[in-house]
Amino acid sequence: MSVPAHIAIVMDGNGRWAEARGEPRTVGHRAGIEPVRATIRECARLGVGALTLFAFSSENWRRPETEVSTLMGLFMEALEREVQELHANQVRLRIIGNRQRLAVGLQQRIAEAEALTAGNTGLQLQVAVSYGGRWDVIEAAKRLAAQAASGALRAADIDEERFARELQLADLPDPDLFIRTGGDHRISNFLLWNIAYAELFFTDALWPDFNAEIMAEAIEDFRGRERRFGLTGKQLREEPRV
Ligand code: IPE
Ligand code: IPE
Ligand code: MG
Repeated sequence: MSVPAHIAIVMDGNGRWAEARGEPRTVGHRAGIEPVRATIRECARLGVGALTLFAFSSENWRRPETEVSTLMGLFMEALEREVQELHANQVRLRIIGNRQRLAVGLQQRIAEAEALTAGNTGLQLQVAVSYGGRWDVIEAAKRLAAQAASGALRAADIDEERFARELQLADLPDPDLFIRTGGDHRISNFLLWNIAYAELFFTDALWPDFNAEIMAEAIEDFRGRERRFGLTGKQLREEPRV
């Protein structure tokens, strides 16, 4: 079997990584940038089609103001520094999440980076910032409700395919592999709809320590899974899926 077409990663553990070194949490966030670069490079090298990274959740806004503003500064800095190289490597970058909560300057940089890389056909990279899975579903529901209210859509025509088209990852296949670093076994409001059948992989490694070897371990583990999608194992072996 080949590599997963779409990998989603919850990049957790920056704060603990720093605290273990007697440093402020923000040092861990800064140390988390290099593994992001390495992961993007590795996914491009392996031929992974799409990578979706959870960088900041809708709930993370409730953290201390200083931590939030440091993180926002790091996003801005990383965006400015990396976008040309991403573009040169044919990466299409998009930010998913409630961007209205972001500073106007950051919103502008995001729009510029997305416009610059929009036509790129290499790795499809999504960075989730100010993102919540529930927010995503509610936004989709609101858009469908507005269309139904205006008469453009019949409620009876809303099915899974139509609903999914309103979500942030509308044009991408669902993640095949979901990875979370930092040792906790939870979703924390990441892609609720899209990970319905993702294979889950958890590692105790803290995000700043994530690297190509751990990624290889996750992919190897993924390859060993039998993805049944509700069928029996016997059905899968006997009837090749169409
Ligand atoms: C993940 O690391 C980054 C963000 C959520 C912004 P954390 O900051 O959650 O680090 P831990 O989990 O406290 O160690
Ligand atoms: C999940 O990590 C969000 C990101 C990695 C961006 P959290 O650290 O916010 O998750 P909880 O609070 O431990 O569930
Ligand atoms: Mg955390």
